[in-house]
Amino acid sequence: MSTSKGDIAKDSQILLFEIAWEVANKVGGIYTVIKTKVPVTVGEYGDRYCLIGPLSYKTAHLEVDPIPDDKIDDAALASTLATLRQRGIRYLYGRWLTDGNPKVLLFDVGSAYHRMNEWKADLWMVAGIPSPPDDHETNEAIVFGYLVAWFLGEIKHVHDSLAPSESHKPHIIAHFHEWLVGVALVLLRKRNFDIATVFTTHATLLGRYLCAGDVDFYNNLKYFDVDAEAGKRGIYHRYCIERAATHCADVFTTVSHITLLRLSGFEEETSDAISGYKAGNTRKDSAERLGLCKAHQLTLNSNLDGVLPNGLNVVKFSALHEFQNLHAKSKEKITEFVRGHFYGHLDFDWTTLSTSLPLVVTSTVIRVLNARLKAQNSKTTVVAFIIMPAKTHSYTVEALKGQAVMKQLRDTIQEVQNNIGKRLFEQAAKGKLPSNAQSVILDEDLVNLKRRVFALKKDSLPPIVTHNLVDDATDPILNQIRNVRLFNDESDRVKIVFHPEFLNSNNPVLGMDYEEFVRGCHMGVFPSYYEPWGYTPGECTVMGVPSITTNLSGFGCFMEEMISIPSDYGIYIVDRRMKSVEESCDQLAGYMDEFCSKSRRQRINQRNRTERLSDLLDWKRMGLDYVKARWVALRRKFPEFAAALQRQQELEEDANSEDDEVAARLQGVTIPEGELGHGYESDGNLMIQTGGDLSNLKYNAKVPRPASVPGSPKLFKSYAGGDDEDEEGRRASISSNPAGLFYDAGPDGYDEEYLQSGAVHG
Ligand code: G6P
Ligand code: GLC
Repeated sequence: MSTSKGDIAKDSQILLFEIAWEVANKVGGIYTVIKTKVPVTVGEYGDRYCLIGPLSYKTAHLEVDPIPDDKIDDAALASTLATLRQRGIRYLYGRWLTDGNPKVLLFDVGSAYHRMNEWKADLWMVAGIPSPPDDHETNEAIVFGYLVAWFLGEIKHVHDSLAPSESHKPHIIAHFHEWLVGVALVLLRKRNFDIATVFTTHATLLGRYLCAGDVDFYNNLKYFDVDAEAGKRGIYHRYCIERAATHCADVFTTVSHITLLRLSGFEEETSDAISGYKAGNTRKDSAERLGLCKAHQLTLNSNLDGVLPNGLNVVKFSALHEFQNLHAKSKEKITEFVRGHFYGHLDFDWTTLSTSLPLVVTSTVIRVLNARLKAQNSKTTVVAFIIMPAKTHSYTVEALKGQAVMKQLRDTIQEVQNNIGKRLFEQAAKGKLPSNAQSVILDEDLVNLKRRVFALKKDSLPPIVTHNLVDDATDPILNQIRNVRLFNDESDRVKIVFHPEFLNSNNPVLGMDYEEFVRGCHMGVFPSYYEPWGYTPGECTVMGVPSITTNLSGFGCFMEEMISIPSDYGIYIVDRRMKSVEESCDQLAGYMDEFCSKSRRQRINQRNRTERLSDLLDWKRMGLDYVKARWVALRRKFPEFAAALQRQQELEEDANSEDDEVAARLQGVTIPEGELGHGYESDGNLMIQTGGDLSNLKYNAKVPRPASVPGSPKLFKSYAGGDDEDEEGRRASISSNPAGLFYDAGPDGYDEEYLQSGAVHG
């Protein structure tokens, strides 16, 4: 049958499957990636998108709305599932109860365990991947992998047989996350299936293991014998799966440049690899560009094609001050807790700074910061919360008592207040004013109050930890705090609260959930050493809470690239790559010290600026990298189809193109006060978009890129107006991005340099 390429593109559907261990199954950060990305992916693919994961009976009923077999309206899917069912495979198919409501298919791995040995032998035969008998995680990964490959092969076959013509056969893309689901990808390649594949690592196995030890990871990257290191750690077979998946994928990506650096060990090559990917080169092209890519010899023996940074589903409030109000409300709850926890020692200033600090450099930083604040006679007290689960028995009596005495005090005052009100009213109703205070506050009120106040007296220092720890004597956090001898002494300007349990709004002591708590904090501190991405500072950012991160976290590197002065926007990046631990701690303490000296006004301003970075982290924008990766995979696997598709899209674009006309109209564009403008480069032109946000554009213009602007000005962004000025009255700081540079906005929101170039006349 002969089919023109135009027809292929027109008739054929593209189906997308996304496979991860954490689909509807919360384990860690990948769950957040997948779940928050759903709305943009559903926006693009609708019901042609389906997620696949393992079935966890404990939680699935909370996550998935099941669709019974006889209600499945997709004929190919229904037939495929029937085949698997007849062979004894159990699964749960339905809609994931999350924003976007995507289709989701969860396989009961246990239902196929009887075939494990057969499949393990096959994996050894076809891919040379060994598997010891007693590694449960690997066993799961193998059985799940065979199930997914079986399913995908079958559904492709059924679709093809149902298609009315060659050109109606769908093109399938399967996107796999992390080694645990890598086996299926290897099988698709070995069995030569017509399915385009993308593989994303969120952290490499070896990276995780090596960083967990005492190894100076980054300085020794070049010298590791990775096979031997994996063997020494008993993870050789897992590492084989990971490595094979990276090799077999049409497109291999990771979540940040820092992982790339970790994978290759060489930054120059890293950026080459990225540009190769951006330019849409084939695998082979980028490999050649890289020469003998060091990644080949290092952790994964594979070339990376690109980076897919993690986004968030950003909730925008209609009025800017709304998130500020929420901060104040949540902070009041934290303050309430602090009152109870520190009862009897509440001698510090009320503009308490609450900080959420994880471990590693924590104790040193706290010690240094405490010493600095003391030396300055600072009026600010930092309350550092360490929220990190450990084995506990229960809340301590002290922690519960603290909250109880505060509650009694509040109740008593409420009662006294009511009585005073009553007396005042009674007198006033008779036309009298109180002659003196004693006529409204009686002795019995004072006695009651006195009793409560005496109950607050306490000789011992406020506790550090809120719970009874199972291993109190050996707990690493407590031991660090003991080492630096910080015990919430009156003279300390940094107080510590260690809450060894995840937050939860039903807790009797600190009854808040994580999001509410973060909102109420002034700052989040996350000084990670190994963090391929790291969602915590990003979550702070979208809630308008400044944070400290490092240049060894994907998030930190991303922000460093995006913004010229990140600290202006409340993103403080500690150098942990080039500095010693002591120097890093010093820098971190310095940032906190500087932050402590800010006035409330300055903090409010800074929060406004931080919150404006949300757009950068929004999946609406980050999702575009996924689009790109899928496109490259399609092009590598189905070059003819991709070319036809591209031609068709170009034709459609030409038909709708108003760009040139708009550009002409906008030669004199002014970005209105208070509005946000975005720009980026496309084919040598600067695209300018202004309006509320990316989803609500007022202008979309193309202007020639000014040759006079130095460097490679591919991206600019201007924030204008509002209370967005920094302490020096500058309106905004504009920044760089992997694709180019942002510029400093001038006083009216324009980029000065850009204005001077004459491209846009304000
Ligand atoms: C928000 C609220 C203000 C409040 C402020 C406290 O901006 O809208 O009413 O005064 O938070 O800020 P602070 O940094 O002191 O917690
Ligand atoms: C992994 C990484 C973490 C990242 C997450 C999501 O868990 O360790 O840094 O945020 O994946 O990509």
